[in-house]
Amino acid sequence: MQDEATRKAVVTGAAGGMGRAITARLLADGFAVTGLDIDAGGLADLAASAGPGFSPARVDLTDAAAIAAVFAEIGGIDALVNNAGTCFMSDFPDIPAEELDRQMAVNFSSAFHCCQAAVKAMAGRAGVRKIVNISSNGAYNFDVFDPPHYRVSKAAMDTLTKDLARRYAGDKIAVNSIAPAMTETPLFGVLSADVLEKAISAMPHGRAMRPQEVAAWVGFLISPAGDIASGNVIILNQGRDVR
Ligand SMILES: NC(=O)c1ccc[n+]([C@@H]2O[C@H](COP(=O)([O-])OP(=O)(O)OC[C@H]3O[C@@H](n4cnc5c(N)ncnc54)[C@H](O)[C@@H]3O)[C@@H](O)[C@H]2O)c1
Repeated sequence: MQDEATRKAVVTGAAGGMGRAITARLLADGFAVTGLDIDAGGLADLAASAGPGFSPARVDLTDAAAIAAVFAEIGGIDALVNNAGTCFMSDFPDIPAEELDRQMAVNFSSAFHCCQAAVKAMAGRAGVRKIVNISSNGAYNFDVFDPPHYRVSKAAMDTLTKDLARRYAGDKIAVNSIAPAMTETPLFGVLSADVLEKAISAMPHGRAMRPQEVAAWVGFLISPAGDIASGNVIILNQGRDVR
């Protein structure tokens, strides 16, 4: 049972590699966390290990009505992490129309609808409330493999970050994006062995980043130390793209 003072967070894509690490970080920081994911088995697995502060909710985040319904059930929240996403690998100029639509729906529209629900769910809560959008280096580095529909889904997300940061600054809702490069999660499975090896060898530390390393930045932004930051896209890539 959570007491009234417990701060509440929603993490999308909680059952994935990054989502699990972000959920663990926020639970360790004292949040009650509701994890949204389409993967019922993954959520059950996470619920079994996460402890009493975690509540799983199976939702297809491409369904706007389902998002509205789950947020209505959750009630007031203090933080939202839009982390659910994937990378479809068809390449231009042969990307099927339905793949483009699905890429935008999973990566961008899901976050858009969650933000709409979240700002209402944050009304009247104490302190600076937080939205963290998990973007990607792929929106900014055109030397790497990312296909264009993946890039634009994340670029759209980052523009949403800036719009909401400006719109809600006076309401004390801080909105930032974190844009990681290669981070070791099940999403690596969309890449061929060749592409994966090349991308990891381009990382300055000679290894992919770890989900816990990205989660620590999410936790920092959501902690009181993050109260004064809003409207930023924070690039995490071991310094790979500095020129
Ligand atoms: N891994 C990387 O190198 C990397 C780099 C940059 C950005 N990212 C971003 O990080 C985020 C997390 O990715 P990850 O690497 O942990 O991948 P992942 O595949 O391990 O996790 C993604 C999660 O999103 C969930 N999801 C997908 N579609 C959904 C839907 N329609 N409804 C609900 N849930 C859905 C999946 O079930 C999964 O649990 C993504 O937005 C991804 O684009 C990852």
